[in-house]
Amino acid sequence: MNAPLSPPLAMLMELTHRCPLKCPYCSNPLALERARDELDTATWKRVITEAAGIGILQAHFSGGEPMVRSDLPELVRHARAEGLYTNLITSAVLLNPARMAELAEAGLDHVQISFQGADAAVADHVAGFRDAHEKKLAAAQLVRDAGLALTLNAVVHRQNLHQLSAMIDLAVDAGAQRIEVAHVQYYGWALKNRAALIPTRAQLDEATRIVTAARANLAGTLTIDYVVPDYYAARPKACMGGWARQFFNITPSGKMLPCHAAETLPGLVFERVTERSVGEIWAHSSAFEKYRGTGWMAPPCQGCARAEIDWGGCRCQALALTGDAGATDPACGLSPDHAMMAALAIAESGAAVDDFAYRMIS
Ligand code: SF4
Ligand code: FES
Repeated sequence: MNAPLSPPLAMLMELTHRCPLKCPYCSNPLALERARDELDTATWKRVITEAAGIGILQAHFSGGEPMVRSDLPELVRHARAEGLYTNLITSAVLLNPARMAELAEAGLDHVQISFQGADAAVADHVAGFRDAHEKKLAAAQLVRDAGLALTLNAVVHRQNLHQLSAMIDLAVDAGAQRIEVAHVQYYGWALKNRAALIPTRAQLDEATRIVTAARANLAGTLTIDYVVPDYYAARPKACMGGWARQFFNITPSGKMLPCHAAETLPGLVFERVTERSVGEIWAHSSAFEKYRGTGWMAPPCQGCARAEIDWGGCRCQALALTGDAGATDPACGLSPDHAMMAALAIAESGAAVDDFAYRMIS
C-alpha cells in the first residue's frame, strides 16, 4: 500500500544536450537529443508554470550545457516569477561578464560549476576541452563578484582522485560556499567508461579520510557534501530520493522522466510535456507509477526495515548489473548480486584501462 502522493520537490530541466565539453561520465543518455528537437521558449515557460502549480520549490537548469540556450535568462526570470528557487548547473565555459549580469538581473539564485580536476592538465584532459579549467576559474570569480551562491561540483574517479585535496583548496580559493565531492555514479556515459573511471578501494579510503579531515578543518568556511561510489557500498543510496517521489527530469525534447537514466529501462513509456501536463504525468504516468513506493518490491526489499529509507536503491543500476529493473540494487549487501558487483569493482579498478570514450552526438 503506497502513501498518498506528495508534491515533488524539484524539477531538473535538460534544456539541451548540446555541450562544448565531452566528459566521459556525463549522465546524459548515450543517444543524445538534437538541437532541432528541443522545446521552444514558450513551451519551457508553460512547463515551469505547470511544475510550480503542482508544488515544486526548485528549478534546476541543466543540460548538456544550458548556457548554449540564448533564452536561459528569460526562463530563469519566469521561474523566479513563479516563486521558484533557481539553480544553474553548468560547465561555465560559456560564462562571461555580460551573460553573468543578464542572469543575475533575471534573478538567478545559485550556480553550480563542475570541475574535472585541480589543474589544467588533468581537468582539460577529462573534459576533452582545451582551456576549460582556466575558463571555469574565471567564471567562478564572476559568480562570486555577482554575489550569487556558488557550489563547486567535483566529480572524482580513478584518474583525478590524487588531486582531491587540491580541489577542496580550489573551492575555498574560489569563494564557494559548498563543494560536492561526488564519486562517479555508473549510468549513461560513465557506465560505458567504467573500467577507466572506477577507483580502487585504497583510493576510496584515502578520499574518505581527506573529506573527513577537511570537514573538520573547514567547518564554517566550506560545506562538503560527499557521495560515495555504490560499488563499494554496503547499502544503496535512495536514488532520486526514491523513484518518482521527489524529483523529475525533462529531456530537451520534452520527455518527462523519473531520473536521468530512466530511458534505459525497457518496457516503460515516457510521456511528453507537449502532450500531457506536468501534473498529470507526475500523478498518473505508468512509468512514474511503476516503481513508486514499495508495492513493486520483491524480497529482500519487501518487508525490509530500510524499504522506506533507500526505496530499494537505484532501478537503473539494478537493470544495468542484473538485467532486471525490479531487482534489489546490487549495492545492497542483502542482494544476491552484491558480491558480483564488488568483484567487478576490484577487477576493473585494477585493470590498466585509461582511455575514455568521450561523450559525443553520434
Ligand atoms: Fe534497501 Fe532493499 Fe537492501 Fe533493504 S534489501 S536495505 S530495502 S535495498
Ligand atoms: Fe534511474 Fe537511479 S538513475 S533510478
